[in-house]
This record gives sequence, C-alpha cells and structure tokens, in this order.
Amino acid sequence: MEYLYILCFLASCYATLNNKKFPDDFMFGTATSSYQIEGAWNEDGKGENIWDRLLHTNPNFTVNGDNGDITCNSYHKYKEDVALVKDLNVTHYRFSLAWARLLPNGHVDQINDAGVQYYKNLIRELRANNIEPLVTIYHWDLPQGLQDEGGWTSSDIVDRYADYARLCFRLFGGDVRYWMTFNEPKEFCWQGYGEGTNAPGIKAAGTGEYLCAHHVLKAHATAWHIYDEEFRSTQNGQVGIVLDTNWYEPATNSTEDKIASDTKLQFIFGWYANPIFRGDYPEVMRNNIQRRSLAQGLTKSRLPEFTPEEIEYVKGTADFLGVNMYSSALVAPIENPDVNAMGYEADSEVRDWLSENWKKGASPWLVVTPWGVQKLLRWIKEQYNNPRIIITENGYSDYDGTLDDVDRIDYIQQYLSGVRDAMDEDGVDVFGYTVWSLLDNLEWVYGFTNKFGLYHVDFNSPNRTRTAKKSVGFYQNIIRTRCLVDYCIDIQNYW
Ligand SMILES: *[C@@H]1O[C@H](CO)[C@@H](O)[C@H](O)[C@H]1NC(C)=O
Ligand SMILES: *[C@@H]1O[C@H](CO)[C@@H](O)[C@H](O)[C@H]1NC(C)=O
Ligand SMILES: *[C@@H]1O[C@H](CO)[C@@H](O)[C@H](O)[C@H]1NC(C)=O
Ligand SMILES: *[C@@H]1O[C@H](CO)[C@@H](O)[C@H](O)[C@H]1NC(C)=O
Repeated sequence: MEYLYILCFLASCYATLNNKKFPDDFMFGTATSSYQIEGAWNEDGKGENIWDRLLHTNPNFTVNGDNGDITCNSYHKYKEDVALVKDLNVTHYRFSLAWARLLPNGHVDQINDAGVQYYKNLIRELRANNIEPLVTIYHWDLPQGLQDEGGWTSSDIVDRYADYARLCFRLFGGDVRYWMTFNEPKEFCWQGYGEGTNAPGIKAAGTGEYLCAHHVLKAHATAWHIYDEEFRSTQNGQVGIVLDTNWYEPATNSTEDKIASDTKLQFIFGWYANPIFRGDYPEVMRNNIQRRSLAQGLTKSRLPEFTPEEIEYVKGTADFLGVNMYSSALVAPIENPDVNAMGYEADSEVRDWLSENWKKGASPWLVVTPWGVQKLLRWIKEQYNNPRIIITENGYSDYDGTLDDVDRIDYIQQYLSGVRDAMDEDGVDVFGYTVWSLLDNLEWVYGFTNKFGLYHVDFNSPNRTRTAKKSVGFYQNIIRTRCLVDYCIDIQNYW
C-alpha cells in the first residue's frame, strides 16, 4: 500500500483512484426533490405549482408529455423510501419541501395541515432511522398563486419567501440541522425567466434571469438572517445554498481561453456565490452587462444593482456551500461578439461546447469528466476563501434504468476520487457527498427518459415498484469501508 502511495505520488495519480480513507465524520448521502418524486399533485389540500400548470397546459414541454402528477408516488410511499435510504446506510438524505403543499397559494395566512403533517412524518421517520435530514426549502416548484403575482421577477417575492422560510424553521427546525435555501437558482432563473425552457416558461432573456437572481439573493439573505436572529440559538442548525456549475476547461492553454474559463465560472457560479461570499456581483459580470446594455441603447445596465447596505446584508450569509457538479465543458471567447445578442450567455461573451472525446450520459448536458471536479473545488476554495463545502448532487443518467448500472458505478467512483484528491492535495474543506438520486424520477423536461436512480422505479406499475440497482451495493460498500479501492491508507491514523 505504501508503495502504491509513493508510486501514486510519482505518477501524480492521473487516472488512478484515490486510495486514502474518507474521514470518519465525512457524510455520505443521497438526494431527491419534491416535484420529481412526490406525485399526489392535488391531494390533501396541496396547491398548484408552476410545474403543475406548465405541464398540464403544455404537455409537449416534456418528452412524452411526462409530468409529476404521480411520478414515484413518494407522498404515499415515503416510509418505503426511508427504508431504502436506511438500507443504503447513508448518513443523510437531502429532500425538498413543496411550498404549495405547505402553503397552497404561497402565503402564510393559509397553512395546509396535511402538508405540515407529511413533512413532520418524513422527518420523524428519518430521525427514527438515524438519518440526518438535509432540507431544501425551494427546489423549483413555486406556488402558481405567487407566479400570478409576478413570481421571481417581482420584488414582493422576497417577503413571501422570507415568511415561508420562517414557517419552515418554526415547524421543522427542531429536527433539522442543515437547511438549504435554494437549489440551483441559476437554472430556474435562467431557464424559467430568461430562456423559457423551464417553468414558468417566460422568455425574457437578458433581463428576466437577472431580476430573478437579484430577488433570490435577497430572499436567501433574508432567510439566513431570520435563522440567525430567531432560531440559531435554540435550533443550532446551519443555513446554506446549493449552486450548480460545470467545470469550464480552457479549450487551449492560451491566456484568452484561461480568462474565458474564469469569466464563464463567474457568470455561472460567481453570479450567486460572489454576492454571498465576497459581496456584490462579480466584476466581469457588472462590466460586461453594463457595457453591452449601453451599446444596446439602454440608459443603464440590465444587471440590477445592490445598494451598499444590501451588499453588506447579503455578504456572509452561508454557513456552508452546497455544490451540484456533474459535468464539464470546453470554453473559448466568442470572437467579434454580437453586441445586440440578448441573453445571459451572450453577455458572458464566452462560448462553451462538449468535446467529442468525452463519454456521454443520457442527459444531453452530461459528460463523464471526473477530472473536472477537483479543478472546480480548487477554484471555489481560492475564490471564496475556503468555504465549508458539501457536494449536494452528483450522479449519472442512463436511458434504460438498467439494474446492472456499471457506468453509474464508474462515474461515482471516479468523481468521489476527484473529491478526495481535492481534499487531500488542495486542502478543500469538503464535509460530505450526495448522490443524485435515490430513485429514477421525473427529470424535468426530459421526463422519465433520463434515469439517475440508485433504485429503479417501475413507472408502468401502479405500485411504482422500487428495485435496487448494482450501484446500491457499491455505494454501501464505499460507505462501510470509506474507501474507493480494495485497500485504503487511513490517513487519520497513519500520520
Ligand atoms: C406545444 O403546445 C402548445 C399548445 O398546444 C403550442 O402552442 C406550442 O407551439 C407547442 N410547442 C411545441 C414546441 O411544439
Ligand atoms: C496545457 O499545458 C499542459 C502543461 O504543459 C499540458 O499538459 C496540456 O496538455 C496543455 N493543454 C492543452 C489543451 O494544450
Ligand atoms: C402491487 O402491490 C401489491 C401489494 O404488495 C401486490 O399485491 C400487487 O400484486 C402489486 N401489483 C403490481 C401490478 O405489481
Ligand atoms: C451498514 O452499517 C453498519 C454499521 O456500520 C454495518 O455493520 C453494516 O454492515 C452496513 N451494511 C451494509 C449493507 O453495508
């Protein structure tokens, strides 16, 4: 083993799996979200959300017209699902609260008791099985009533979200130590209010996504301050946010491409992380959008501005950072960028694409690039002064949901190795890892065609029967040994 270790040093471990044990307190878990697994879309007093509305009125938004009306039926099968989580032997289970199940029209003046009871039951069941609940307060399913009032592009949403978050802390906070205010705001702002390819399907590229993000950041900060002032001393939990990004690899070693890589990461990740960890939007975003807005004949930037007070209020509002990372892309500057092109990608003036050489998953955006995770974690550490990080999502999709899911096993093993390398070689402070997903589920616009589950779900059976894939045994083994290879060096007890 020691020989292996030394060899590994010499060969700088390329394509070699990390052979050091994960720390004893490292958290291994799995994740889901409400709309993707619960079903029971209109049962027991749940209100309509923006995905219900979009997919009922416009079924062609998803492959095969699939929607979340029933999906995995986890609302009725939560005990069975907790038993599966228990069987995995994980430390934690990350799930989300459906805002419209708790508050049918989005407002706190009308609370749905059955929804409250459902999440109390779920959390109690997890606790009874010694599983730490990691709770996402918002995972894309805005109550339709709030969308009708303007949704994430209206400034009113900040107070509505704050009321909702306070209610969640009050109702469930006694049993929850890890809160995540938002899941992947970049996706629901950009696709929901810019490109119009996700609910609520609004096309306002170049303005809508920035307005959405501005309100999300204020809502996040307000929720963090509420927790800090009203709940932390009695509940002793932590509040973070979940941000997603690819690793953006410079297409060549040219200075231009390296700058393009940083610019892209600032536009994708810094958009949210910079205000929270450093204060204000990244400089390159402010500069690019201002310059392009003026060139387009506008009198001011399409990127909203924070006041100095707001910058201070948002800064420092994360006790930990959740990172969703699956994939990578190559980047280079757009040559002679069209100044009139509207949208968030155009504003970055960077183009990105996937290399032909990379293995693909079922999801068109997913390529197997485990070397990217260490680079990304290192970049995050350097940018944001070494925050505490948990990988809140990472996983692999296939089309057929095969039980013999060796590609998923390879993927998880290699990415975990990259995570361990980042901890080891770069001192990145990663305290946990979470596989997406517990179950095959509704993969948004790809419907049931992109399967990420550790457990197969039979969507043709009214029982939605769950069956363990090969990756379940593989993950159990990693959790038991805390090791990715046959024999590991126990660094903690070795030095
Ligand atoms: C989807 O259906 C809606 C309503 O029938 C229609 O207006 C729209 O053009 C369709 N979109 C696509 C992409 O087919
Ligand atoms: C960039 O330079 C490094 C170190 O010299 C080399 O290993 C790598 O292959 C180069 N990358 C490209 C895309 O040329
Ligand atoms: C559904 O589950 C019930 C109870 O376990 C069982 O009796 C029934 O045969 C199942 N139906 C299908 C279609 O699998
Ligand atoms: C689950 O964890 C317990 C305690 O560490 C261990 O004894 C058991 O073998 C594990 N089960 C599996 C299936 O790995």
